[in-house]
Amino acid sequence: MTESERVCAGSLLGTEGLSRAAIEEYLDGAVRYRNAPIWETGLAQSPVALMFMEPSTRTRFSFEMACHRLGAVPLAMSTQGTSISKGETLLDSARLMREIGASVVVLRHRTEGAPHEVARELGLPVINAGDGTHEHPTQALLDLLTMRDALGTLEGRRVAIVGDIQHSRVARSNIFALKTMGVEVCVSGPSELCPDSVASWGVTVHRDLDALVGEVDVMMMLRIQRERIEGHALPSVGEYRSRYGLTEARAARMRPHAVVLHPAPMNRGVEIDDVVADGSRSRIFEQMRNGVFVRMACVKKAATGDA
Ligand code: CP
Repeated sequence: MTESERVCAGSLLGTEGLSRAAIEEYLDGAVRYRNAPIWETGLAQSPVALMFMEPSTRTRFSFEMACHRLGAVPLAMSTQGTSISKGETLLDSARLMREIGASVVVLRHRTEGAPHEVARELGLPVINAGDGTHEHPTQALLDLLTMRDALGTLEGRRVAIVGDIQHSRVARSNIFALKTMGVEVCVSGPSELCPDSVASWGVTVHRDLDALVGEVDVMMMLRIQRERIEGHALPSVGEYRSRYGLTEARAARMRPHAVVLHPAPMNRGVEIDDVVADGSRSRIFEQMRNGVFVRMACVKKAATGDA
C-alpha cells in the first residue's frame, strides 16, 4: 500500500500536490459558509479532536469556532494539563482521541511530518494545523480566499512574500497553492532567512524591496520567528525594519489596488508598521475572519468527503 493510500480520504496534510479543483472546492465551500445566515447542523454531535502541541491563538480558536458552527463537538487538547506532560506519545494521544470517538483529528506539532505520521497510523482523516517549518495548509487557503476577495481573481496576479521564507510553513504552503492557481510569487528578505536557494521552489528572489513593492498586487509580510531561528546572525530590528519592513513610506508606493496580508501574530514595528497593519490596505483582520469559514470547509470535507 502506498503512503497516500494509507492516509484517509479528506485529510489535508499540505498544499503541495493539491489540485486547483481541490483548492477551489475549499474556497467555494468557505464562501458558502460565510454567506449562510444560520449555523449548520450537518455534523451534529461529531467529535473533532483539536490537538495543539505548539502554541496557537488564531488557528486553534478558529477551528473551535468552525466546529461549533458545523454542530460538531471540539475536543481541545494541548501539552499542558494532559498526559503528554507525563510522557505519553503523540500517537498514543491520537489513538486515545480515536477510541473516545473523534472522527477527525486536527494537529499542530513542532515536528515536520507529525500529522502525516498520525494520518498513516490512525485510520482517521487528519488536518495539518502547522507542522514545524513544513506546511500550514489551512493558513494558505484562508490567505488565498482573502486575496481572491480583494482582487476578484488569482490567475495572473503577482504576490510578494517578505521575511523569513526559509523557516516559514506559511510561505511554503502559500507558494505551493499560489503557483497551482497561476499566481507569480516573488520573495524577499535577508539572505540568512531568504537564501537564493529558495528559487528552486519556483519563485523569484528579490533583495531590493523598494524596487518590488510597486510591482505586486499583494504584500504578504511574515513574522520573524525567533523560536525557530536561534543561532542565525540576523540584522538588528532597526536594520531589518529599514530594509524589509512594510513601513508607512514603503506602503505608500504600492499599486492603488494592492493589499497587505500577514498571517499574524505580528511583530508590530518590525516587519510591519502599526499604521499599515491598521490601515485601509490591510486585510489582516479579514484573514482571521476567513479562517473560520475555510476551517469549516476543511472539517466538513474531512468528515463527509464534501466541503
Ligand atoms: N497564523 C497562525 O497560525 O496563528 P496562530 O499561531 O495564532 O494559530
